[in-house]
Amino acid sequence: MNELAWGTNIDLDDNQFYNRIEDIKFISDLLKSGQYGTSPSILLTGIRGVGKSALMKKIQNEFRNEKYLVVYIDLSSSNAYQMGEFSRKSVIELMYDEIMKECKEFGINTEDKKMEKYIRTHDITLKEITSIKGYPVPFLWTEENYKKLANFVMDLPQYLYDEYDMYINGVFIFFDEFQIIKELGDQLNDFLWYMRSFIQKQNNVSYIFSGSMGIKDRLIEEIAGSNGAFGGRMLTIEIKPFSFETTKEYLQERADYLKFSEDGFEQFYNCTKGIPFYINVFGNLLPKNTLLDSQSIKENFNKFLPVLAMHFTGSWFKLNLQEQKILTTLLDDSLKRSDIAKKLEVTSGGIGRSLNNLQDKGLIEMENNMYYMPNSVFRAWLKNEYRIKGVFPYKSI
Ligand SMILES: Nc1ncnc2c1ncn2[C@@H]1O[C@H](COP(=O)(O)OP(=O)(O)O)[C@@H](O)[C@H]1O
Ligand SMILES: [Mg+2]
Repeated sequence: MNELAWGTNIDLDDNQFYNRIEDIKFISDLLKSGQYGTSPSILLTGIRGVGKSALMKKIQNEFRNEKYLVVYIDLSSSNAYQMGEFSRKSVIELMYDEIMKECKEFGINTEDKKMEKYIRTHDITLKEITSIKGYPVPFLWTEENYKKLANFVMDLPQYLYDEYDMYINGVFIFFDEFQIIKELGDQLNDFLWYMRSFIQKQNNVSYIFSGSMGIKDRLIEEIAGSNGAFGGRMLTIEIKPFSFETTKEYLQERADYLKFSEDGFEQFYNCTKGIPFYINVFGNLLPKNTLLDSQSIKENFNKFLPVLAMHFTGSWFKLNLQEQKILTTLLDDSLKRSDIAKKLEVTSGGIGRSLNNLQDKGLIEMENNMYYMPNSVFRAWLKNEYRIKGVFPYKSI
């Protein structure tokens, strides 16, 4: 019997990965156009759990088989990020590590004379290069040589194509969880423009930037907007949730042990909104070979909300009290800033920071000056906590 992938797995095998045929074709065709000397940059957007990472991994695997060097860089995997010390330097270091890893996977020997010469031309003296597991690693990241090393790493993808083009059909660099780049704060814009200065002259390297961003996310404007670092050169592609029909076919094909009544399936779709993460997690938790009607879907949904909302419960407990309170004012309606402030009994100016922070984390969005919480599972979890415990799970309580 087929099984649904776990909600946290992004390396899906062919039995697990479903559909996305058009997205794959569209993106693959674009990426391939880089062979002819016009490398595209793509911004892949879509809400958390919709399947962006799984899609990138799928594309990576397909192109690896066709002799493309595809480097997948997940910004959230950087040590510095996990330690709360995210910086430009940590992005560059991570890029370097992932490029080297992929070269190894590909069978490119980066220890040869060519590489040595390349390192020299970047004026990074070999004294500063040590070797870890056979790879030269620039380890002296002093302020002074950071710039040189960053240039070296940014130039590296095109260099690899030029030097090893007998083996490589093209080079793709995929950045995932790119929204984390916002943590650079004041340096964000500078860094984006810095990246662009390299990317735009690389004819055989294509870049995909992806992350869980709402369509209103200011980062999208800063990257792909008309005044953004990549201006009109970047194509934005939004990955959408599965449609009602796709979800139905998916479950019939891959999870036939889920026996929905008609209104049961409607309720299931209403709870999961066609987002593969919720479909899979909820689908794996539901009782098998039992008739699932609308009522039992509702009950199970409430029961499993803490698991379904796990991305958000994590974020919730990292918020400060004011941020948490703002969210609880938005559970039923969208509100203007002044109305949120009134409910919290503070001035409108007093919640500016919190609103920005919540927006940056994608927990709220704003449209026509009205703030709202875009994620229904997060809303449902908070309401359910309140229903069961009589209070919201605030920081101080
Ligand atoms: N094409 C797909 N077919 C089946 N399941 C999928 C697919 N894409 C995503 N999923 C499921 O959804 C989960 C979340 O996907 P992920 O790629 O991590 O989302 P995102 O990166 O957009 O936040 C995966 O772990 C997997 O269980
Ligand atoms: Mg992802």
